Amino acid sequence: MAADAKPTGPDLTQGVPLSDVADGGMLVGHVGDDAVLVARQGKEIFAVAAHCSHYHGPLAEGLLVGDSVRCPWHHACFSLRTGEHLHPPALSPIDCWSVEQRDGKVFVKDKQAAKPLARPMPANPPGRIVIVGGGAAGFAAAEMLRRQDYKGSIVMLSNDDAAPVDRPNLSKDYLAGNAPQEWIPLRGDDYYKDNGIDLRLKANVGAIDPRAKEVSLGDGGKVPYDRLLLATGAEPVRLQLPGADLPHVHTLRSLADSTAIIERAKNAKRAVVIGASFIGLEVAASLRARKIEVHVVAPEKRPMERILGPAMGDLVRSLHEEKGVIFHLEDSPVAIEAKQVKLKSGGSLEADLVVMGVGVRPRLALAEKAGLTIDKGLVVDARLETNAPGIFAAGDIAKWPDPHTGHAIRVEHWVVAEQQGQTAALNMLGRGQAFDAVPFFWSQHYDVPINYVGHAEKWDEIAVEGDIAGKDCLVRYKQGGRTLAAASIYRDVASLQAEVAMERELVSS
Ligand SMILES: Cc1cc2nc3c(=O)[nH]c(=O)nc-3n(C[C@H](O)[C@H](O)[C@H](O)COP(=O)(O)OP(=O)(O)OC[C@H]3O[C@@H](n4cnc5c(N)ncnc54)[C@H](O)[C@@H]3O)c2cc1C
Ligand code: FES
Repeated sequence: MAADAKPTGPDLTQGVPLSDVADGGMLVGHVGDDAVLVARQGKEIFAVAAHCSHYHGPLAEGLLVGDSVRCPWHHACFSLRTGEHLHPPALSPIDCWSVEQRDGKVFVKDKQAAKPLARPMPANPPGRIVIVGGGAAGFAAAEMLRRQDYKGSIVMLSNDDAAPVDRPNLSKDYLAGNAPQEWIPLRGDDYYKDNGIDLRLKANVGAIDPRAKEVSLGDGGKVPYDRLLLATGAEPVRLQLPGADLPHVHTLRSLADSTAIIERAKNAKRAVVIGASFIGLEVAASLRARKIEVHVVAPEKRPMERILGPAMGDLVRSLHEEKGVIFHLEDSPVAIEAKQVKLKSGGSLEADLVVMGVGVRPRLALAEKAGLTIDKGLVVDARLETNAPGIFAAGDIAKWPDPHTGHAIRVEHWVVAEQQGQTAALNMLGRGQAFDAVPFFWSQHYDVPINYVGHAEKWDEIAVEGDIAGKDCLVRYKQGGRTLAAASIYRDVASLQAEVAMERELVSS
């Protein structure tokens, strides 16, 4: 997260020539201490905060799409008219200012409180909404319900002991020691009280009764619902190896997991990371930031080749090697001991800290027990409703009919989970909205961000614009000439343009 810098550029209260703001263009100036973005679409001029409410991304380096602006860093989208946060990962609006055009100049006037567009509440909204899960999807659903001025009760049940957190940070800045713990909760405790969200932590839901419309808690308590959202996320896989349950062997999903790794790292000299996945490698980078020697053991030939292709895989490997990470690829662990990890190839690696980043399994047990349709994920329709009327699902567990690929897919992306939580919230209120967002995720390796839009499980062509090794590229994954997905490094506008193009391309499922 960037710190607030002193605003630069023209004083917008004094006016800037209209000709300085090209049609479809943006300009940054300031109003007092506030950095303000002026954007022009045809005859209309808008003024909003210059920085994204997620991690402070510079909106002027993003993309204008109609009367909205998208952030270059993680593709949040804001209304230029109201400042409303239209797409996650932004969960808060940005400020707006009134604008006056006079004598060929644009003057920015008064700051206006951002207010979401009032959408009429459907007749007979449900009285009681229960959300199982206090993660990305669950939180985004609750926030959207209150943003829609939903007046009924919201109970959020989470078996975590922490209120919803910024999970992606747990393998990045927080683990590296660059983000204090205060940055990690998505909201302070007061938010839940002030917004009438009955957040119950350490509340494990053991069963759902779709007929009686109630969920049962581990302590025997029952919570009735009119609409239910299942957003139970995924569980990290722990390899079944001798020694896998030793105290210095960790997985990473929760704030408690990340904090436990930090505690262990304080006295560790050598770590073995098992798995060259996004999480495994982000952990490797964070442990290097803590000056720990890091060895990565993984069965594949190249890290992330299955998702990003060989050239991006080579780049990711070289980024980590430049920082001193030592790879043991095409190998796997066979046993873990107190001070070492034994490898299939016959060798062993000394380690006083081991982190397994070998993938996750969607938490489907509850849904399965309740008789909901499962097919490598909890099957939902286009409105994210399961086969049990009134029960919706979102996030890592949900397998939805994706209108862009024409297939039912399930992904494990932060922004998708939030978007699905929001769509499910609207649909629990009866809005009947199809989920048609283009999947997006990002990953950070030291100072190099990788953004990925779309969804490609396989491809017959990889088209590279720019230079992968030079860390300046947009890589398209194509099938039959059609771009299914695009990965980018430092080509943020091209990534946003690819996203917009994919949004417009729908195929029937
Ligand atoms: C360390 C880490 C880094 C990541 N980085 C990125 C990234 O950079 N970019 C990206 O796109 N994605 C990233 N992801 C993936 C992203 O965080 C997930 O896709 C997202 O959190 C999924 O949201 P969710 O709401 O489905 O599940 P979660 O956020 O996991 O939330 C699930 C919630 O359900 C609760 N729960 C589960 N079972 C029960 C039960 N029976 N009763 C009560 N509560 C229950 C859990 O306690 C939890 O609160 C990362 C994940 C991790 C772990
Ligand atoms: S900083 Fe804008 S979306 Fe993350």
